[in-house]
Amino acid sequence: MRIYCEKDYDAMSRRAANIMAAEVIRKPDCVLGLATGSTPVGAYKQLAVMCRQGDVSFKEVRTVNLDEYKGLAPTHDQSYRYFMNNNLFNHVDIDPANTSVPSGLAEDAEAECAAYDKLVESLGYADLQLLGIGNNGHIGFNEPDSSFTKETHVVDLTESTIAANARFFESANEVPRQALTMGIGGIMAARKILLIANGTGKADALYNTVCGPITPECPASILQLHGNVVIVGDEASLGKVIAAGVPVCK
Ligand code: GLP
Repeated sequence: MRIYCEKDYDAMSRRAANIMAAEVIRKPDCVLGLATGSTPVGAYKQLAVMCRQGDVSFKEVRTVNLDEYKGLAPTHDQSYRYFMNNNLFNHVDIDPANTSVPSGLAEDAEAECAAYDKLVESLGYADLQLLGIGNNGHIGFNEPDSSFTKETHVVDLTESTIAANARFFESANEVPRQALTMGIGGIMAARKILLIANGTGKADALYNTVCGPITPECPASILQLHGNVVIVGDEASLGKVIAAGVPVCK
């Protein structure tokens, strides 16, 4: 695990965007696993700038997103499909047909999950999987639980995730109670994983991810078993990891 400690959100975003751009330059037809939430917005902005300047092209890139709220249409402004279009896809030269987000509207959500796993498998899994992290250690929407779930599945969101995500909705009541999420198997099958985090709210989750036991109570802790993980955090989010004596790159 390589950990970069950056001074603030902007520096974290630039580092993350550079790592992602490097992957696209190395392999122009790579598969990028993408994430939503507030954390990656800055990195996506940086990638849009790099693309506009001609430093990187997404023409051949395929993308697979981690998750989607169950019940939200792609046109809903809080759906993750809408988020991706708005924050990245509409600002780079990617072919929309090469982008995939699970459908929140599928009548048979279980079938949608199974089909999504087939799709990700058919693409050969992600060359680079971008991850944010929930305050409770969730990745995608793999919530703390008594076991890890390998496949894409429908998940009941925890009260803490509903509360954390209420800031994006009119009220907590509006937050969908369920989501479709890629499972731990799909995430761990990525050749490289880039986890980004900022702010003191993520300090416990990052500490448990890096220093804690590998447990489904902190889903991100499974990343300790992956051979190619890069964590990029700001000083606030990495405070507890650094205090524990874990070496970081500055
Ligand atoms: C959401 C998403 C995750 C994301 C996390 C953190 O619920 N499903 O993929 O990493 O919460 O969000 P934020 O970056 O806004 O803190």
